[in-house]
Amino acid sequence: MCGIVGYLGEKNSKEILLSGLKELEYRGYDSAGIAVLQDGDFSSYKAIGKLVNLEEKTKDFVTDKFSIGIGHTRWATHGKPTELNAHPHLGESSYVVHNGIIENYAELKKELQESGVTFLSQTDTEVIVHQFEKNLKNTKNAFEAFKNTIKELQGAYAILLVYKGERESIFFAKNGSPMLVGVNKENEKYFASSDTPLIGHCTDVNYFEDGDYGYVTPNELVIFNSDDELQKPHFTKLSTNKLSAQKDGYRFFMEKEIYEQADVITDTLLGRLSVDSVIFDELDKSLFEGINEIKLCACGTSYHSALSASYMFERYSKIKTSVEVASEFRYREPIMTNDTLFIVISQSGETADTLETLKMAKKAGLKTLVICNVDNSSMVRLADSSILTRAGVEKGVASTKAFATQVTIFWMLSLYVAKLKNSLTSDEIASQIHLLREVPASVKVSDAMHEKIKRLSKRYLHGHGFFFIGRDVFYPLALEGALKLKEISYLHAEGYPSGEMKHGPIALADPELFTIALLPQHLLYEKSKSNVEELSARDSTICAISPIEFDKADDYIRTKEHAHYMLEFFEMMVAVQLLSLEISIRLGNDVDMPRNLAKSVTVE
Ligand code: F6R
Repeated sequence: MCGIVGYLGEKNSKEILLSGLKELEYRGYDSAGIAVLQDGDFSSYKAIGKLVNLEEKTKDFVTDKFSIGIGHTRWATHGKPTELNAHPHLGESSYVVHNGIIENYAELKKELQESGVTFLSQTDTEVIVHQFEKNLKNTKNAFEAFKNTIKELQGAYAILLVYKGERESIFFAKNGSPMLVGVNKENEKYFASSDTPLIGHCTDVNYFEDGDYGYVTPNELVIFNSDDELQKPHFTKLSTNKLSAQKDGYRFFMEKEIYEQADVITDTLLGRLSVDSVIFDELDKSLFEGINEIKLCACGTSYHSALSASYMFERYSKIKTSVEVASEFRYREPIMTNDTLFIVISQSGETADTLETLKMAKKAGLKTLVICNVDNSSMVRLADSSILTRAGVEKGVASTKAFATQVTIFWMLSLYVAKLKNSLTSDEIASQIHLLREVPASVKVSDAMHEKIKRLSKRYLHGHGFFFIGRDVFYPLALEGALKLKEISYLHAEGYPSGEMKHGPIALADPELFTIALLPQHLLYEKSKSNVEELSARDSTICAISPIEFDKADDYIRTKEHAHYMLEFFEMMVAVQLLSLEISIRLGNDVDMPRNLAKSVTVE
């Protein structure tokens, strides 16, 4: 994640940068920093933790009349959240802020160190300033040196760089990480990772394309594309309504968050995959020493992701795994043994029942791990170890992108444990990692699917109930689909393992019972199909979600052909999320704030 801002103009850059960072704080809050012109020279200020710490640290200083500055709010990927690792990073004459990952930083760093450069931080970003200053020695033209530096970087980045030798310029580059520049009649230039910090300041914005780089001065905005061709800025009008701008044109936050899943999963994976292993810098390998069992505990949607994890831990890591609903676990006097790793999963990190189970596990002396979306939350502070999901702030009450990132983390963690326990070969792990890299593409919403679901949804506004059915890891997805629908449509829906139908639920089958059948190509297709046929024979209305057309289905949502069932899982997840969304919208409900629900359940 991470958020960056930049400003060039005649206003107080400190205030502008800090208020911009406030808007981006959801992108990371391990530390924050700014570099601004002060008394004719650049100074930088950094503080760990939330932005208020930086505000406090900078409250007494004033910036120059002509004002220029860059700022950053960090979500640590390389290097711990310390002040030294906070951005801006500085060399002898330049400062840089960066969002993304420089994949070849280790080799660049080695070369720079061999030529005598001293590094202050453990970050990948610091190589950018040193490489820039090295190139500067060869060209003497600062922009040329910047361009040469960009060409040497591999990976994802949105970069802003200021240089003491050109105090009226900001150099920028974008590849894979978001960034835009905004302008106004006062000739000011504003940079940010998203448009919200610019609302109220800018009239027009230019969203950079991958490969774009250039510079701004008081009178210029110069953009080159990846082929080094000079580009005219493509300005679009900036909304003046913050709330609707935050929704980026989507009708509801939930819809925006469904569409964001490809980006947030990219963030979840960032820096955590090599060719043949999963890297969790945040975990000490000793966490798994002496562990013979994993127990997962959570509520609601997070419980469903935990259920999906149980399939992956047993299948790939070959480790005994059980899953508990937190509100049940805390009162049932459970037996806890020290060879069990206790994992809690929570978007918020504050859910009262889940937090209580974590306390119980700690008290019983178990090793603990939390999979969480909110750093510094109660669970993250309490657990021995934590893995952050990096979904960003989730505003819709019905969880979508948090679930997607949790399942992604579990897939990665099951491979991480598989490597430790030698339960998969290196080749098997490498091929799964290859698949993991395809998850972002698998959750990209296709217009065709969304349009189809919009049309279908009008047929599903009544009836006496919905069955979402699936087998294996698609069973937790069926539970999640049913929960989504219940939460925002207020229609009755249940998730079932497909094979359970004949043990009772099938008695409900009639045309007014809607079955949403998850039929992946690569996992128990024939078995699942015959379960659906049984429902169809009893006249249930069937909506099949599958890459294979199914002649007994009344409605059909076609998914793409994928190489692996987990990729089918992710695409079907999007399908069930969209189905709930569209049914709820047709029913006229408030999708983002459904009745009786709250985003974070901090009471029992
Ligand atoms: C459903 C939903 C809830 C939460 C549950 C746990 O869309 O959001 O079911 O998953 O309240 O919350 P966290 O994950 O914050 O512990």
